[in-house]
Amino acid sequence: MSDFVILPEQDRSTYCTAKQYKDLYRQSVEDPDAFWLGQANRLDWFKAPTRGGEWSYDPVEIAWFADGTLNLCHNAVDRHLDQRADTTALIFEPDDPASAARILTYRQLHGEVVGMANALKALGVGKGDRVTIYMPMVIEGLLAMLACARIGAIHSVVFGGFSPEALAGRIVNCGSRFVVTADTGLRGGKVVPLKANVDAALDHDGVEVDGVLVVRHTGADVAMAGGRDHWYHELVSDAECPCEPMNAEDPLFILYTSGSTGKPKGVLHTTGGYGVWTATTFHYVFDYQPGEIHWCTADIGWVTGHSYIVYGPLMNGATSLVFEGVPNYPDHGRFWDVIDKHQVNILYTAPTAIRALMREGDHFVTSRSRKSLRLLGTVGEPINPEAWRWYFDVVGEKRLPIIDTWWQTETGGIMITTLPAAHDMKPGSAGLPFFGVRPQLVGAEGEVLEGATSGNLCIRHSWPGQSRTVYGDHERFVQTYFSTYKGKYFTGDGCRRDEDGYYWITGRVDDVINVSGHRMGTAEVESALVLHPLVAEAAVVGYPHDIKGQGIYCYVTLNAGEAGGEELAAELRQYVRKEIGPIATPDHIQFTDGLPKTRSGKIMRRILRKIAENDYGSLGDTSTLADPTLVDRLIEGRQNS
Ligand code: WT7
Repeated sequence: MSDFVILPEQDRSTYCTAKQYKDLYRQSVEDPDAFWLGQANRLDWFKAPTRGGEWSYDPVEIAWFADGTLNLCHNAVDRHLDQRADTTALIFEPDDPASAARILTYRQLHGEVVGMANALKALGVGKGDRVTIYMPMVIEGLLAMLACARIGAIHSVVFGGFSPEALAGRIVNCGSRFVVTADTGLRGGKVVPLKANVDAALDHDGVEVDGVLVVRHTGADVAMAGGRDHWYHELVSDAECPCEPMNAEDPLFILYTSGSTGKPKGVLHTTGGYGVWTATTFHYVFDYQPGEIHWCTADIGWVTGHSYIVYGPLMNGATSLVFEGVPNYPDHGRFWDVIDKHQVNILYTAPTAIRALMREGDHFVTSRSRKSLRLLGTVGEPINPEAWRWYFDVVGEKRLPIIDTWWQTETGGIMITTLPAAHDMKPGSAGLPFFGVRPQLVGAEGEVLEGATSGNLCIRHSWPGQSRTVYGDHERFVQTYFSTYKGKYFTGDGCRRDEDGYYWITGRVDDVINVSGHRMGTAEVESALVLHPLVAEAAVVGYPHDIKGQGIYCYVTLNAGEAGGEELAAELRQYVRKEIGPIATPDHIQFTDGLPKTRSGKIMRRILRKIAENDYGSLGDTSTLADPTLVDRLIEGRQNS
């Protein structure tokens, strides 16, 4: 096929070859239990598992390695002390390039994690407790995660860009009684008032915590509530603190993610399966070798940060770079500066960052060496072939493999990707399934489609990294993922499979949009808009956006007699930022006198999507609308707004 991009031969004997991939893939689907019990040997178990997958999708119950006992902090930290205590575990690159970088060996990381674990214990945290982590991208954020794993507490990391309202909801939902935060954070030279946001969240009705642990990061002045708030540096201690033996199915973390309805749900991952999945995918997909520097540019507030900044790399004894800043500060060359400064070998980033940098011109890239780079990765949203080309031609100088890795918060780790030396690449395609992953494309009636075709992407057969439940709401887990197509996990993505068996993710088929690689429920934005006293109704859809991939388009109807304008639009934007956070800021607000509804009152989003896309030729059947004349007014409004 002509759409393959063929690389110069990769001179690297450790890469998994095409033949090895085929053999391992076959083993992984023919005898999944034997395959995964074998991969489980990558980890150090207190008691090795003898049981593989024990699962059913109807009723939904999933377990892997259920008779095994282990601790992921032990695997990420302590276990390396014998062999590589002096190897660098973490490199911290601060927001301000003039500030000093910080380097921690595995021995130092161990000391720091023990210190954090003791601080959490002093705060009152015990096994099974939920701990909310609301931190900037600094080492202490990772320490808090690892320290929770060490003592058997369940971490719930909330992205530092979320608003106090969003934070409060996530604290209440999982009944977390502890928060770890910092005085303030820095991003692109701007101050993020983390502790003040925590205070505001805790002011909400029904939000009650026993303790807040505050890391001094910038040294900014913050209010400390007596009895509740404690400085980390006052509680830290180097007392002995062994790793708690955990059952493989004990929860490791909760991570909130958006769905098509209602509030974000707390996706729950357990210890053994998630550990094996992230350790194994990290090993094969990135082919990390000792001495290399791995840089995943995500934030620990997202699953990408959990799996490929923290757990995957550290369980493999790798050196992982932690970056506090943003790609365009102090200028658009920052990524390449960081790469040259720390001699980064693996860069794993998102299409939205690539597009934003591409727009600024090649010289920011070509003026830096980037000679250390060996592998480029992308994740989070479909990458458009133009951005792929730029990543390949300009950043990688046509010599570096690109891996386009498809996965989700719910999958725990990478599910579909090419492997650097096993498969040729196709710009825009994620490629082939990872070991043990059995994708199926399903038609509207639930029929399984074979061969080259398009459909809804499902996965049959459980894999170790699969989420086990939605915290506190198993029924929602069942409804969201296992009820659309019986006996399969439904991803929510549309997908095409080509004649070479390559998968091309076409985007979400539900009411979830992907804004700069961040997952957003349109329902969440709508709920925020209707909080405004003048707003009667709102409908939110995604539309193509040059940099963000998808932008947020809002149709708003006002109470009778009210008129919309620039000022009200600005106020509504502010409402959404306050409710959710800056990442949910509407890109476009169109005031309208009505929303297109069927006679039974269902909003026809298909029509709203087309109009937002400026695609009026294919609106489909509009005759079932309660008010068919509305469509012309909506189009007119689109053109004038
Ligand atoms: C959704 C999951 C995976 C960690 C970051 C996002 C989209 C993710 C790709 C890719 C096309 C992708 C899907 C998926 N997505 N990676 N390589 N190509 N689309 O995790 O927030 O749980 O979002 O991101 O639509 O369902 P998430």
